[in-house]
Amino acid sequence: MKVLVVGSGGRCHAIIDALKRSTESVEVFAAPGNDGMRPMAELVPIPVTEVEQLRDFAKENRIDLTIVGPEAALEKGIVNVFQEAGLKIFGPTKEAARIETSKSFAKELMQKYGIPTAAFKTFTDYQDAACYVESLGRLPVVIKYDGLAAGKGVVIAETLEQAKKTLYDMLVKDVFGKASVVIEEYLEGVEFSFMCFVDRENVYPMVLAQDHKRAFDGDEGPNTGGMGAYSGVPVISQEDVDEALERIMKPVAKALVEEGVPFQGVLYGGLIKTADGVKVIEFNARFGDPEAEVVIPRLKTDLLEVILNVVEGRKVETQWSDAYTVGIVLASKGYPGRYETGHPIRGLDRVEGLVYHMGTKFDGKEYLTNGGRVLIVVGRGKTLREAQKKALADCEKIQCDNLYYRRDIGFRSLSD
Ligand code: AMP
Ligand code: GLY
Repeated sequence: MKVLVVGSGGRCHAIIDALKRSTESVEVFAAPGNDGMRPMAELVPIPVTEVEQLRDFAKENRIDLTIVGPEAALEKGIVNVFQEAGLKIFGPTKEAARIETSKSFAKELMQKYGIPTAAFKTFTDYQDAACYVESLGRLPVVIKYDGLAAGKGVVIAETLEQAKKTLYDMLVKDVFGKASVVIEEYLEGVEFSFMCFVDRENVYPMVLAQDHKRAFDGDEGPNTGGMGAYSGVPVISQEDVDEALERIMKPVAKALVEEGVPFQGVLYGGLIKTADGVKVIEFNARFGDPEAEVVIPRLKTDLLEVILNVVEGRKVETQWSDAYTVGIVLASKGYPGRYETGHPIRGLDRVEGLVYHMGTKFDGKEYLTNGGRVLIVVGRGKTLREAQKKALADCEKIQCDNLYYRRDIGFRSLSD
């Protein structure tokens, strides 16, 4: 079977790794992929947003199944374009993906169907928005740009001044190019990522994960695309998971069907356990990154079979390993700000656990750094601490003079 995976980072590598472990023999193509995937996949130099080119490639090469990684491809309608051409593809249509790509669509849907989330209001006018923030009389307040902004669209404003400046940037200067914002209540609690395979109203939960968005230990420093994640999240109980499934994930899948935009693919709930129950921070319409890199390795069922069952509308069964996983991202020094690339990476052959490439290049002799986030090392263990220790031991074996990583991934669930 020929499978095309759309994407280039660690999430894409983790998907490919699972496909290669399938009982079926799978020939994998990655568009555009990265050099770290070469041993497992043929790289196709088409950007993820060139959806017509990708469709033509899939047709010409008789691809049996396409799996979409990033939201940018979903927003461009890759699923619509493939389906119109009669090609099998795993992921939601552009319309269903609005659950991620439009904050106001997601919030209004949750409001209409009574799905628990922070109170909010949508604004396009700066004066109205600024008056509203003043009238709340409560800080911090959360301001979200209403569109994809590569993780930079959420500001938690601690002061009125900061709130107004953010609103001015988003609505008047319009730095991202679509002048609409959602202002919402600040929620306090423990955040977690709950991904489910979804086929219309059928929802099949995965094991939980938690990511670490800040650059430095102790959740200090700037926000990043994710400096690590772990799976098996003991701070969240089975009751919380049941509540999240019954009150959030299943109702939202059903709501999307009722709205005429049924969802197929991975629905990611970015949830928070508050004193007032589990609530939604955001939805994503795809596997999380770096959550996929710690969750997929725990899937004992054949990922290809699971995905084919979703795409073809059959019942899905999943079995998960009890082992915990901890994934540590090795990022270029300076990331998420300016950073250099082209630094040699050595010692990868000594790593005992899993390594997924996020941004590397092979120069014919060795791997070089080629992005902000470069590698993710995943350790597995009977306990979270053991998984963390193994991942850290593997990180130490990797030699590169321009990488840094966090040493505390998993800390919210570790008390020993
Ligand atoms: P988002 O892009 O919506 O996931 O937001 C990025 C991060 O901002 C989240 O992971 C949360 O840590 C934080 N955040 C977003 N919305 C809220 C909220 N209503 N209350 C508290 N924190 C929030
Ligand atoms: N880890 C969060 C995301 O994938 O958006």
